[in-house]
Amino acid sequence: MTSDQLTVIVLAAGGGTRMKSKTPKVLHSLAGRSMIGHVLAAVRSARPARVVAVVGHQRELVGDHIRDLHDDVVLAVQEEQHGTGDAVRAALAALADADDLPEEGTVLVATGDTPLLTGASLTRFAAEHHAAQAAVSILSGVVPDPFGYGRIVRDGEDEVLAIVEEKDATAEQRAICEINSGILAFEAGFLREVIERIGNDNAKGEYYLTDAVQLARDDGQTVTAHPIDDVGQTEGANDRVQLAELGRQLNRRILEDWMREGVTVMDPTTTWIDADVELAADVTILPGTQLLGATSVAEDAVIGPDTTLEDCEIGSGARVVRTHGQLAVIGAGATVGPFSYLRPGTRLGDGGKIGAFVETKAADIGPGAKVPHLSYVGDAEIGEGTNIGAGTIFANYDGVAKHRTTVGRHARTASNNTFVAPVHIGDGAGTGAGAVIRNDVPPGALGLSAARQRNLEGWAERKRADTPQGDAARAAREAGENGPHGADGSAD
Ligand code: UD1
Ligand code: CA
Repeated sequence: MTSDQLTVIVLAAGGGTRMKSKTPKVLHSLAGRSMIGHVLAAVRSARPARVVAVVGHQRELVGDHIRDLHDDVVLAVQEEQHGTGDAVRAALAALADADDLPEEGTVLVATGDTPLLTGASLTRFAAEHHAAQAAVSILSGVVPDPFGYGRIVRDGEDEVLAIVEEKDATAEQRAICEINSGILAFEAGFLREVIERIGNDNAKGEYYLTDAVQLARDDGQTVTAHPIDDVGQTEGANDRVQLAELGRQLNRRILEDWMREGVTVMDPTTTWIDADVELAADVTILPGTQLLGATSVAEDAVIGPDTTLEDCEIGSGARVVRTHGQLAVIGAGATVGPFSYLRPGTRLGDGGKIGAFVETKAADIGPGAKVPHLSYVGDAEIGEGTNIGAGTIFANYDGVAKHRTTVGRHARTASNNTFVAPVHIGDGAGTGAGAVIRNDVPPGALGLSAARQRNLEGWAERKRADTPQGDAARAAREAGENGPHGADGSAD
């Protein structure tokens, strides 16, 4: 009875020169997660007893990133990259240092740049390896263009003899279309022993982990290769063209998973959803929408078109149209947009409204409260059922420090107001059009600050004679028109 305890080694020491980037290859991201983040998530779901990541190129950056994601991953340092065999040797040395070298069970070796690989595929491969009681198993794939890959060489009985790397292959071997995906499984005891025997006498002068296959065969041990159906899962991104292509495929997978869970995605080609987003059934996503980071959307909400939400929480039945939002919480049945900008700390209560050309930041807007038009609401609290007039500016910044404005429940503020923080407008209070509110308005009071209007009668005929304006004024007087508002100059 052999143990099915699983150890996973993830190789991530290479530089990824073809990315042409100051960022190490495995830290490039797709669907809101780094490549290595995707690989570690898949590895995690295979429930391993221990995980080792081999870092080398920019190892501080890569190591810190891995620790942030999964703090129980053992980091092994490979100072110089002398090949995959050398990398695995570094991983085993790190486990030995931690006094946690596996005596038995399966050791899976994967690479940090295959973001499409699923946990289910890893689990299935580990189980196949275990069932075959093989010393080494290869997750292989059949591809139309095998260039660059290690080829799986089999004998007349279909038994695996060796993996031959591109540069070491004969013309005949180069024609083989079954390739090594780079994911191998080892019996722990065999790996510990064989890793010391791998040499570097080959075209690249590197220690090839894949040489373990032939060494196992020389020992008379079992080697198996398991072709994966969906060979795309083991594809790596070596440059940004491949990164974009894998990103597109991953996005498509995420969208299809959500559609199967009851989410309507009207246009999958223009919709982007990150791996960590959560959606409920009967959510509808309209074209041109990006749901990023840890965004969640509750049932019956409709998002889009042309909306980007990052780390937002959208309540059930809410409607968010042509909006850019970050770290905002939108209540059930609330409406946002079109053309709204929700900055961090925006909270809109159930049934509330943030309307067209409204920017909000650190704003707590109560249930049923509305900011319908053309406003800036920063560092503010607005009570339940209150309506903020069109064109209101919450002036939160005095040039040195930020201050808060609070507006009570069921207040009615008028158009074109400026609330100069810190200031408080009480429950049920109101303001006049154009008011600049510098002092608190008590509950139920009407705050006015605009100067009383004066009308200079006959001004246009006196000052603008013989212009279209003066002519129009004269014609109106001759026709006996007095204007709709009389001449008392009231304006509130
Ligand atoms: C390797 C396999 C090849 C397989 C291919 C699949 C070997 C010898 N060859 O070739 O059979 O078809 O992957 O993509 O294993 N790495 C380290 N340290 C090193 C060298 C590599 O951590 O010293 C990491 C790299 O960062 C990379 C992975 O191992 O993630 C594979 O290395 P790479 O040099 O790309 O190997 P290939 O030549 O592609
Ligand atoms: Ca490679």
